[in-house]
Amino acid sequence: MSLNRNLLLELAREYGTPLYVYDGDMIVQRYRELYDFIKWPGLKIHYAMKANYNLRILKALQAAGAGIDAVSPGDVMLALKAGFSPDRIIYTANNVTDDEMRQVKSLGVLFNIGSLSRLEKFGREFPGSDICLRFNPDVVDGEHAKLMTGGDLTKFGILLQDVEKVKEIIARYNLRVVGLHEHTGSGLQHTSSVFKSMENLMAAATPENFPDLHFLDFGGGFKVPYKPDEKRVDYVAMGAEITRLFTEFCGKYGRKLQMYFEPGKYIVAEGAYLLVTVNTIKDNKGRLIAGCNSGFPQLIRPMLYEAYHHIENLSNPDGAQKVYDVCGNICETGDHFAQQRELPEIREDDVLAIQNAGAYCYSMGGVYNLRAMPAEVFVKSGRVELARKALSAEELVDMIIGESN
Ligand code: LLP
Repeated sequence: MSLNRNLLLELAREYGTPLYVYDGDMIVQRYRELYDFIKWPGLKIHYAMKANYNLRILKALQAAGAGIDAVSPGDVMLALKAGFSPDRIIYTANNVTDDEMRQVKSLGVLFNIGSLSRLEKFGREFPGSDICLRFNPDVVDGEHAKLMTGGDLTKFGILLQDVEKVKEIIARYNLRVVGLHEHTGSGLQHTSSVFKSMENLMAAATPENFPDLHFLDFGGGFKVPYKPDEKRVDYVAMGAEITRLFTEFCGKYGRKLQMYFEPGKYIVAEGAYLLVTVNTIKDNKGRLIAGCNSGFPQLIRPMLYEAYHHIENLSNPDGAQKVYDVCGNICETGDHFAQQRELPEIREDDVLAIQNAGAYCYSMGGVYNLRAMPAEVFVKSGRVELARKALSAEELVDMIIGESN
């Protein structure tokens, strides 16, 4: 754990649970180290803010020099508020409406277009613009079937075989293609997939097809370990191969282009904890159930992707090992953070730390069963800040009733 047990217990006492705790130092370190792995003078990391849009995290990454991968008008507006200028933001939404297109274009953000249909509509309204094109890399990888973005079965990107159709549309509307993009999936299992996707995109990126390129963007997807015994990818070796491939490509293209990546999980997954308190222990004919004061709307990855999140019993780290189903407080059978997990004995009122809670945990949260999302605390350089308060039940109900009453 990057934050120590005593600090986490202190925060649980001070702010109550459930509570998200972010380790700002680790998040910034993860961002920075990408530049050590991939040595290319024109490397730019755009943080995929869908992974975690906490304002403190955005501001810390803004100050560190990151760009943003945004996927909705809300993302763009929040990124602007966090201090990112429009030229540091790329818009990679899918199934965009005309209204959304106009709204985001008016904010001065570069559009990454992933369908022939949208390309046509964009060209008609904004002829002569700079654009980026998203291609489907035709490589299938990711840590769960729902997290594989490339290949024939997904909705994402323009098919590489449609380059000629793309060229017709861009010529008709005098669009200038300044970037090409692909994203293969999240939690890529094989570094070979990263290389193959790069090669597929680079094969389309000829000066004949796209003479005005400034950058190629190879998406996100860098995997982090979730299990304690899981090996960390050798990112130094991966980065060296990425640089080699890109150097070779730029030689053929005839110019040194910029290289973009847009990781979310890699930057924020590990630097966060969801602290929960166990309030009910049950022995169901020998099956031990530890019931907590949080549930899947507050951290859905185990239920949605069967994702493993490591759990520590902060209150009783040296207790005898027992096997538990760690369940939430939602009225659904699938509401669990772990099943048949060996943990030091859990007693009622023990505080558990659910690890790797930084990416796609708070940001995928909801208020199902009308329980408000937890508060968020941001720790950086030894300073603790309450980044966002939890709504009380009354505030949540008022928000839901809103103007309609
Ligand atoms: N770029 C694009 C175009 C994307 O669609 C995504 C993620 C990323 C970058 C960042 O991917 P990352 O580096 O975070 O793997 N909710 C899932 C992950 C969904 C990823 C969606 N797109 C999870 O909890 O694992």
